[in-house]
Amino acid sequence: MMLTLEKMSVNYGPIKAVRNIDISVAAGEIVTLLGPNGAGKSSTLKAIMGLHPAASGRVLFEGQPITGMATEKIVRLGMTLTPEGRHIFSGLTVEENLKLGAASQKDRIQVEETRERVFVLFPILKERLTQNAGTLSGGEQQQLAIARSLMSAPRLLLLDEPSLGLAPQIVDQIFSLIADLRQKGLTILLVEQNAEMSLEISDRGYVFSNGQIELEGSRDALRSSKDIASTYLGMEKHSHHE
Ligand SMILES: Nc1ncnc2c1ncn2[C@@H]1O[C@H](COP(=O)(O)OP(=O)(O)O)[C@@H](O)[C@H]1O
Ligand SMILES: [Mg+2]
Repeated sequence: MMLTLEKMSVNYGPIKAVRNIDISVAAGEIVTLLGPNGAGKSSTLKAIMGLHPAASGRVLFEGQPITGMATEKIVRLGMTLTPEGRHIFSGLTVEENLKLGAASQKDRIQVEETRERVFVLFPILKERLTQNAGTLSGGEQQQLAIARSLMSAPRLLLLDEPSLGLAPQIVDQIFSLIADLRQKGLTILLVEQNAEMSLEISDRGYVFSNGQIELEGSRDALRSSKDIASTYLGMEKHSHHE
């Protein structure tokens, strides 16, 4: 397994945000975490990255325990997070944002190669290198956020709600980009509100409810689940009282 969570819990003081979850991601997979707002999805990603410590349980990356490890070290091992809400540096240029993403990389030739690969994926960013990131459109900012993550040359990318707040056409582009990244060999753990589109590109998924995993399964199993259909795919729940 590329990533394994064993009975991981996350607390904020007295708040138990994530309780005893088991999750695994195999190399080459896209795995999606679904569930309503406040269910614990972002807390899970932050705990994996060491941004907020897990209260208990273990996180293993490629078999190595990383629980409690500093975030920069985890990034150097080959895993990175594109956080919810993008968090690009809007006062800095596109180029400066990308440079910050490569801060963990010491080998300058490798950084240059990664940069070229990123420009193939995001030609628009190459055209906007000297532009302030804050002047980019929402879709372009999301592209920059993902591009910046890729500058650390990860093998596993954690993506928190990449489609949030984007126009439908741009959402399509972001999902096809994610599928493309996987084709190019990246493993992806995706958090999404858009269950229909995320399951479409995923191999498997987990459904969170109140900090716990309520349901897990393959894409097709989740797509055919009645609960998922009614709760997350926007389909009508058929009442027996009609
Ligand atoms: N920094 C924080 N301090 C206190 N509570 C938090 C913090 N971040 C998240 N929470 C709480 O933890 C729970 C899970 O939140 P979160 O992981 O953001 O859910 P999701 O990403 O699924 O919407 C929620 O009840 C939320 O209010
Ligand atoms: Mg969240």
